[in-house]
Amino acid sequence: MSLDIDKIREEFPILHRTVEGNPLVYLDNAATSQTPRCVVDSICRMYYEHKANVHRGVHTLSQEATDRVEDARLKVKEFINAGSTEEIIFTRGTTEGINLVASTFGNSLCNGDEIIVTVAEHHSNIVPWQLLQRYCRVVLKVVPIDAHGDIMLDAYEDLFTDNTRFVALAHVSNVLGTVNPIKQMIEIAHRHGVPVLIDGAQAVAHRRIDVTDLDADFYAFSAHKMYGPVGVGVLYGKRRWLETLPPYQGGGEMIGHVTFEKTTFADLPFKFEAGTPDYVGVAAMSAAIDYINRIGIDNIAAHERELLIAATAGLMEIPGMKIYGTSAGKEGVISFLVDGIHHYDMGMLLDKMGIAVRTGHHCAQPLMTSLGIEGTVRASFAVYNTREEVERFIAAVKRATAMFRK
Ligand code: ALA
Repeated sequence: MSLDIDKIREEFPILHRTVEGNPLVYLDNAATSQTPRCVVDSICRMYYEHKANVHRGVHTLSQEATDRVEDARLKVKEFINAGSTEEIIFTRGTTEGINLVASTFGNSLCNGDEIIVTVAEHHSNIVPWQLLQRYCRVVLKVVPIDAHGDIMLDAYEDLFTDNTRFVALAHVSNVLGTVNPIKQMIEIAHRHGVPVLIDGAQAVAHRRIDVTDLDADFYAFSAHKMYGPVGVGVLYGKRRWLETLPPYQGGGEMIGHVTFEKTTFADLPFKFEAGTPDYVGVAAMSAAIDYINRIGIDNIAAHERELLIAATAGLMEIPGMKIYGTSAGKEGVISFLVDGIHHYDMGMLLDKMGIAVRTGHHCAQPLMTSLGIEGTVRASFAVYNTREEVERFIAAVKRATAMFRK
């Protein structure tokens, strides 16, 4: 189905503003996507009509707010095909989801235990595991990638030893766009009796996610990268893990009964949801899922693929252009450098022409080190981007390059 992108764009007021006198071309979607009116309206509705603390009151407003949060939990469960709503934990985002698992699973680790990550991980899927080294000498073992940015599967399998306790890896690289063969990687880990956490931050808004089919033990993602609000996200965990792990934070909501002598904890999912949750954000995430479902995730993926192909072809015409990440099935993320031009300089000049891209290390310094660079310019697509914007982006990169070459 071909999408009516003009109609889609009408839903996003921000896309109609100008930057430096030029129409905005927003290509920083891997950092955060923009938010359609229906999601912002749902935030307003919560504040104007239903704001009350959840799971705590018998009064009507509290019941309404609670219903919206629990409806959202059901919607998320269906969106990622989880087995039950008890496996859906609301968090502040992907980073908190990973920290939750690292902190709680980390309780069981001992000196010499090994955790496998890939060289292309975002810092949020490296540092939480390194923080465990405050308590015991866990060892991070790193899966290499090849020249296209694809995981070297044989090297991955070779990393498993009797001490391997956990695997943590991204579904999609935020720098290279590589879609990792996570189903196969999970299957390999499980053959070694090792659970796997998937950082799904760059995947959920761009491809169909089925945690049951993947057999993922944990899958974390954020709402703000999927047309939703900032500050809220999801951690999916298999029930048997969530039941086994200790609580992450203590407070209201996560308890069964509290005395000074002994406290018992609430059932799932509330055991992991201490304190008043961002119920406004959760309801808005639910509206974002409705939005994605209305367009169709497969239609979004197909549209972004067209943009990726057109943008890659256009960039490759530029002398001195190097694209980092050329995996065959990659997602709509293009990291590049033009010979002799610093990524910040390119980013600043593009901004002057109204083009928003991310520059720098993209929170993936170990990957940059392995590529022998400090950073890249990164363009990343969403459903509302157009072919015309791709043309403007290519023309702007050409113009910026010519300015430096004078
Ligand atoms: N993880 C986000 C990015 O890649 C912030 O830009």
